Amino acid sequence: MDDPIQRHPTRTEQLDILVRVLADSVPDGGHVLDLGCGTGYIDWMLLQRRGDLRLTGMDFKPESLAEAKAALADWTGQVTLLQADLMQADGMSAAGTGFDAAFTALVFHDLDDAAKQACIRATADRLKPGGVFLVYDRVRLTEAACFPLQQAVWRRIEQEHGVAMRDATDFDAYQADLASNNRPATLQNYFDWMPAAGLSAQLLHLHGNVMLMGGVKPA
Ligand SMILES: C[S@@+](CC[C@H](N)C(=O)[O-])C[C@H]1O[C@@H](n2cnc3c(N)ncnc32)[C@H](O)[C@@H]1O
Repeated sequence: MDDPIQRHPTRTEQLDILVRVLADSVPDGGHVLDLGCGTGYIDWMLLQRRGDLRLTGMDFKPESLAEAKAALADWTGQVTLLQADLMQADGMSAAGTGFDAAFTALVFHDLDDAAKQACIRATADRLKPGGVFLVYDRVRLTEAACFPLQQAVWRRIEQEHGVAMRDATDFDAYQADLASNNRPATLQNYFDWMPAAGLSAQLLHLHGNVMLMGGVKPA
């Protein structure tokens, strides 16, 4: 299966890290929840590596869920796909509980901050003790004075990968680009929100302004 998202130069490495961390963390036959699964690419990556796992994927686009169903047809008995709107207060209610791990990839910037926090809380509630939550997404840049440093990192990424990150000419343009469908949280937000939901939080990987944050529910 090819990655449906090609305009994200750091994604190949960061998804590889995400999948390896999950593959090394989830017990045999464990159950993993994917918030905003899209066409199921990351679930496919994970099942390639760990064919014993069960997966529940949630997304609000029926056409993406239909693609995911086809892509994951080899594991039909282990995969549950649910249509759900993560912006709704009860968006995760259909997911069930007792997950060994959960993850979300490039989805949280689509949600407002209240929904991000609600999803973190609802995920923490649905994890078994010792369960793991990985959040992969862009983080919000807040420091105008540091913006040229970020731009230098973006330039290097483009030179190394041949693909540009979402960029801006200056900090004002960056802020102007933040809109209702592009509202990443800051790193600090995650360090506040994950412990508030009862999860230990640690930054696992950061490339440019794209983070992989790890959370663990106390055993
Ligand atoms: C950039 S795609 C990422 C898909 C997948 N996680 C991946 O990385 O391949 C973002 C996904 O989030 C889903 N999404 C955005 N807002 C959502 C919401 N409010 N409820 C459920 N899914 C949502 C979109 O439908 C889309 O599939």
